[in-house]
Amino acid sequence: MVLQRLQKVIAEAGIASRRKAEKMIVAGRVTVDGEPVTKLGTKVDTFSNIAVDGEPIERESLHTYLFYKPRGVVSTANDDKGRKTVVDYFKNVPYRLYPIGRLDYDTSGLLLMTNDGELANLLMHPRNNVAKVYVAKITGHLLPEEIAQLTHGVKFDQHKSAPAKVKIIRSDKKKNMQIVQLTIHEGHYHQVKRMFKAVNHQVDKLSREKYAFLTLDSLVSGKYRELSHAEVDRLKHVD
Ligand code: URA
Repeated sequence: MVLQRLQKVIAEAGIASRRKAEKMIVAGRVTVDGEPVTKLGTKVDTFSNIAVDGEPIERESLHTYLFYKPRGVVSTANDDKGRKTVVDYFKNVPYRLYPIGRLDYDTSGLLLMTNDGELANLLMHPRNNVAKVYVAKITGHLLPEEIAQLTHGVKFDQHKSAPAKVKIIRSDKKKNMQIVQLTIHEGHYHQVKRMFKAVNHQVDKLSREKYAFLTLDSLVSGKYRELSHAEVDRLKHVD
């Protein structure tokens, strides 16, 4: 029988982070098999019935998938405009998956899908430092000072981006475009597009090629593969 700490089980069910789960336990909001439990570190087994505020938590086995999101798909479970969602690609998977972070409707590339709430919380936490590598097709050519700005941090709205890595992959003078690889460690809304906009370039096409140590490998657009336990473990320790 597998015994796990109560706060870990609550976190894995996606109810709250482990720290918040600890607070819920201490506050007397958690019951195990109908009995209130306020002692931290209490161990439960796979068959324990756990409830938070009287609401039973659902415990499924945990699965995380690496998905090659196509362009023209929304990164939410439901879309009010009825557009295709990333969840639609997982109809054959019997778990309630959701994306870890977002890619824009018109952005393609690497998106993690999971039912592991703790992993999602961990990776989406603003302090988490996961490197994400994007490839952007931009209008115009970056000037050396614009590259320096992107590298050191640009202001967009209320934010200043953290240091980033810029690599020019290809330049086409005739077509007035460039393919640029940008490595960032943050994930603000429209971050890459807004960083390029801050240096006066428009992103015409965007793809995420790498997330931490994970790449799209041989996946084609619209396909996925499940991550191994070792890969999930490694993700939990990336910095
Ligand atoms: N930055 C963007 O602008 N869009 C994305 O989809 C991801 C990062």
